[in-house]
Amino acid sequence: MKEKVEQWNKQLSKATAEEVLEFFINEFGNKVALSSSLGAEDQVLTHMVTAINKKANIFTLDTGRLFPETYKLIDDTNKKYGIKIRVYFPKTEQIEECVNVNGINLFYDSVENRKMCCNLRKIGPLKRAFSGLEAWICGLRRDQAVTRFATRKVEWDEANGLLKINPLNDWTEKDVWDYIKVNDIPYNELHDKGYPSIGCQPCTRAIEPDEDVRAGRWWWEQPESKECGLHNQKK
Ligand code: ADX
Ligand code: SF4
Repeated sequence: MKEKVEQWNKQLSKATAEEVLEFFINEFGNKVALSSSLGAEDQVLTHMVTAINKKANIFTLDTGRLFPETYKLIDDTNKKYGIKIRVYFPKTEQIEECVNVNGINLFYDSVENRKMCCNLRKIGPLKRAFSGLEAWICGLRRDQAVTRFATRKVEWDEANGLLKINPLNDWTEKDVWDYIKVNDIPYNELHDKGYPSIGCQPCTRAIEPDEDVRAGRWWWEQPESKECGLHNQKK
């Protein structure tokens, strides 16, 4: 499959996001899944994916530290589209051990601690979500961060041995919001309160109007380290 990446990128270079989704849902059936954080981009993708196939796989990683508004959105989205977003949780014993050794808010103490927390609460469950899959769909956009400018529509995710599909990679933030408004897509209430990018509650803050959209994520760290491990693996 790795060899097909170039061919697919060429073939789909002018395709719309819907066409990209349709192509891979037809190609992989239930072996492709949308990985949704319930962020604005993922809500766009959920809307598109359910229009193609209501039974398409959509999963989310519940770290246990999400905002109440995010839980509400999981519920609202399921109800609106008549779907069941599959929820993956971290392993209880691992979280207990980590928190009891390093503290409940360990992530503020060092980048290492923060990465350990992301590893246990996101990467571990993500590996389980990958079981049986050949491809995953993400809401990455090139202009989101310095760490993402090289994102391509179709990538080989070497670390996970999976195809990674980013149908919105060339969308701007405005494209995302125009699509949400036109299609009346449910979105996280926090977006209207200064939170353009939303992750876990202790690691996300509101931003000022002149700040970068990801400035509120792990705001105490340098931009180059601001990935949780979901997307910074070797391609
Ligand atoms: S993060 O790595 O910094 O947290 P971001 O919030 O920008 O990522 O989301 C980028 C993409 O990663 C989302 O569009 C989604 O595909 C995936 N993602 C991020 N967080 C989650 C989550 N909790 N559950 C499932 N997918 C997620
Ligand atoms: Fe832990 Fe923060 Fe990573 Fe969430 S974003 S898993 S709370 S370090």
